[in-house]
Amino acid sequence: MQFFIYRLLFVSVVFPKGVRSQVQTHQTVMAALGEEAHLNCLLTEPKEVLQVMWHKILPDFEDKNVGTYNKFGQRVDPDFRDKVKFKVTELQNSSIVISSVTEHDEGCYLCLFITYPEGAFKGRTCLQVCELHEPILHVRGSNSSEESLVSCSVTARPAPTVTLTVTQQHLYFSHYSTVTVTNANNTLTVTKTAVLSGLHGDGTQVGCAVRVPSGPQKEVFMNITEVKPKSADGFDKESENSNKRGRWILLVVVALGWSIIVVSLVTTTQSTTEDTNNKDTTYINRTPSKEDTNSSKVQEELQYLHLQ
Ligand SMILES: *[C@@H]1O[C@H](CO)[C@@H](O)[C@H](O)[C@H]1NC(C)=O
Ligand SMILES: *[C@@H]1O[C@H](CO)[C@@H](O)[C@H](O)[C@H]1NC(C)=O
Ligand SMILES: *[C@@H]1O[C@H](CO)[C@@H](O)[C@H](O)[C@H]1NC(C)=O
Ligand SMILES: *[C@@H]1O[C@H](CO)[C@@H](O)[C@H](O)[C@H]1NC(C)=O
Repeated sequence: MQFFIYRLLFVSVVFPKGVRSQVQTHQTVMAALGEEAHLNCLLTEPKEVLQVMWHKILPDFEDKNVGTYNKFGQRVDPDFRDKVKFKVTELQNSSIVISSVTEHDEGCYLCLFITYPEGAFKGRTCLQVCELHEPILHVRGSNSSEESLVSCSVTARPAPTVTLTVTQQHLYFSHYSTVTVTNANNTLTVTKTAVLSGLHGDGTQVGCAVRVPSGPQKEVFMNITEVKPKSADGFDKESENSNKRGRWILLVVVALGWSIIVVSLVTTTQSTTEDTNNKDTTYINRTPSKEDTNSSKVQEELQYLHLQ
């Protein structure tokens, strides 16, 4: 499984209103699944800070202590010891690193600058974990040699946007359709399909760009040459070869068919000769008509062969 390169996104910098507006932090931090997330807080006014604390806000519970430090040392709560490390431990400037984030690390975190005599100054920053897999791009010919069906599929969380691109200006996409499937683990698989028109035998490069909102982006490209409908002769070397092979097989089958007919003709002629001795002529008349049907079948087969 390959995930995109870690990226932090500072969606917006918040200055909470009111008296406690001195802590600067990021409202939302976006981190890719499996990568690390950096949460930063800054006390913008000089204060006498005794201690800095980080809490995780839990729904329906008291906030959970993540870690604390002061000028004498630092301590990370045992529940977070494998997960969280202090990166900056200044009394006015604090940051933690959450390693290999999963959806369990999502949520909001509080940084508290405990000052004397004013008390705590708080900052609140929320971590959002996103997941973005490699997009898969498919191109196949449609009925017309000037059109191709392009589709791009990606699995992500939250809902990704999928954009199809083409390098040449005279080529264009139409008949867009999008299918979204929700997976068991809350990721979404989005498949976008469109018809690429304007191909005149010249090659081009199609691309697919995927991204999660205010998150990272991934892009794949594919070079396409003239795409002919699959039924056309000589679509590519391989099918040409298999066409040839198919013809040889048909020829052998037809030859075998003919020899069987010849053999059966000989046998029936023999048997009819015997029959004429014992029975009436109606049977003799019937036999050639049977042969006719056989040979017309062979004719049909031969025609089919020419059509191939
Ligand atoms: C906070 O500390 C980090 C790491 O030492 C530093 O890069 C950053 O510039 C500091 N921010 C301020 C506003 O001092
Ligand atoms: C392609 O041809 C088939 C059969 O002739 C037809 O059913 C189908 O709708 C055509 N597709 C397009 C995209 O024109
Ligand atoms: C979630 O489900 C999708 C589709 O089944 C899968 O591709 C993806 O790897 C899963 N993500 C995680 C984190 O297991
Ligand atoms: C596609 O073509 C371009 C230019 O012709 C080339 O630079 C690029 O490497 C090709 N990409 C692939 C995937 O073949």
